[in-house]
Amino acid sequence: MNFSSIMSALFSKQSESVLGIDIGSSAIKIVQIKKKRGRAVLETYGELALGPYAGIEVGRSTNLPNEKIIEALKDILREAKTTTLASGIALPLSSSLITFISVPPVPEKQLSEVIALEARKYIPVPMSEVMLDYSLVPREDTFANDDETQGKQVEKQVQDVLVVAIHNEYINNYQAITAKSGIQPGFYEIEIFSSVRAVVEQGIQAVMIIDMGARATKLYIIERGILRASHIINRGAQDITLAISKSLSISVNEAENMKRSFGLKGGPEYKELTEIITVNLDYIFYESNAALLNYQKKYMKNISKVILTGGGVLLKGFTDLAKISFQTEIVYADPFSKLETPAFLTEQFAQAGPEFAVAIGCALRRLSELE
Ligand SMILES: Nc1ncnc2c1ncn2[C@@H]1O[C@H](COP(=O)(O)OP(=O)(O)OP(=O)(O)O)[C@@H](O)[C@H]1O
Ligand SMILES: [Mg+2]
Repeated sequence: MNFSSIMSALFSKQSESVLGIDIGSSAIKIVQIKKKRGRAVLETYGELALGPYAGIEVGRSTNLPNEKIIEALKDILREAKTTTLASGIALPLSSSLITFISVPPVPEKQLSEVIALEARKYIPVPMSEVMLDYSLVPREDTFANDDETQGKQVEKQVQDVLVVAIHNEYINNYQAITAKSGIQPGFYEIEIFSSVRAVVEQGIQAVMIIDMGARATKLYIIERGILRASHIINRGAQDITLAISKSLSISVNEAENMKRSFGLKGGPEYKELTEIITVNLDYIFYESNAALLNYQKKYMKNISKVILTGGGVLLKGFTDLAKISFQTEIVYADPFSKLETPAFLTEQFAQAGPEFAVAIGCALRRLSELE
């Protein structure tokens, strides 16, 4: 590195802005942040519904060809008046296969080889077709007993590993999309890890994140900042809209508007609406709570909190109903609190928080990688 490139590196460090990009099935979410006086400062953010690009309603999940995603990306960058292309990009959970494996103690040099060999047993496609990433799950210090036998010593050294496999096809596809949009991705990461960075406070307590998107509801259990379990419920926010549309014989657009305007708070006049929403949410809550209880029982751990993310949780009255189903504290994710934001908009950010968790998490990582 010569003198002028050192200078420009120093200079760009102060002024560089970065984007976090979350291409959801129903909407793209982006945020642009930069570092100022050691804090991440929000510069702009935006959301764009993808339904119209597929000729369907706002709020519905899509399966768009690349050209349409590129068009939408360009549109949202323009609308949000972004000024950088340096990005961190989230990949959908559905593009990955996540498993937890245990490997015997081996020298660090051989670790990745041993993990790849072991992971092979759980990955149903040839290893040449996937990109493999892993992280070691820190051992719990509860094993530190004085009267340990040799046998226990060995057990103690078994290393738990979180393995993430992503099909090359997904990566190639995303690379094609970003290249054609002019975006400069610093990394691609599964949306779980972005969410965790954006919404989980440090601490040892286990928490559950619920991400209710348009297509599906995703559950993650996080302990000591590390993913310990994940689960997909194949029912999401659009299913509520479709159920309303069908039951009340109204258009999908009307159903979506009605859902967003009244939610569970429509009162006696909207008794039927309340019932349809309740039935659908009950199913999701039942499944989520079962996953939560199952984890608590299996690992004898208490899950102290449920953190709500995704557009679906914005439904009016959502937490009131959730509180009946869970025995646990329920909170809305507040990822904007990790950013410096204009004070007069605090209320607005608190409301938009759950939707932007993934995008903010990506931006935060990209920002930290500038250093
Ligand atoms: N105020 C609101 N009240 C109720 N539902 C809402 C509200 N705002 C958004 N939604 C619902 O949230 C869904 C979109 O959420 P989100 O943007 O998290 O999904 P996504 O990321 O595109 O989907 P996925 O994660 O499943 O790919 C839509 O189906 C929409 O109906
Ligand atoms: Mg999403």
